[in-house]
Amino acid sequence: MGVITDMKRILFVCLGNICRSPLAEGVFNDFITSKGLKNSILCDSCGTAGYHIGSPPDKRSILTASNHGIKLDHQGRKLSVRDFEEYDYIFAMDKNNYEDILALKRKSVGNAKVHLYREFDPKGNGDVPDPYHGTMDDFEEVYEICSRTSKKLLEFIQRG
Ligand code: 4NP
Repeated sequence: MGVITDMKRILFVCLGNICRSPLAEGVFNDFITSKGLKNSILCDSCGTAGYHIGSPPDKRSILTASNHGIKLDHQGRKLSVRDFEEYDYIFAMDKNNYEDILALKRKSVGNAKVHLYREFDPKGNGDVPDPYHGTMDDFEEVYEICSRTSKKLLEFIQRG
């Protein structure tokens, strides 16, 4: 294997880091693995809040991913100022997350570029709806958004 010189580091961020962002991370990891890019892109996820630090993803996210052949392997953590130094791109699941991320970025010396995740959804932008108080159908909708967003997201990362 050759030396990897341009490893890209990307971080998916939601509020609790148990529903949306671990699913986005798992779906994107699966996508880049299928493209043979697992060694050139590093993915992680975290939350703007610290409610679920150390917790596994919500059972409904785990089940939804599993229904599509994807295993989620993550422990909840909270976004920190260091993340802006350690990641190249940060993708916010919704506008509240986006504002919270930018507020923390102002306290950081890091240069991570912050985007709304659904900028890359071919079916339109806006928020990834929070499924926490919802049903399995709401989790499936998050999966569908993540699945169809992966291609444009990868193209964007590869251009940058
Ligand atoms: P997530 O969903 O931000 O997609 O992980 C939520 C998870 C937990 C809570 C809110 C949203 N909570 O209030 O604990």
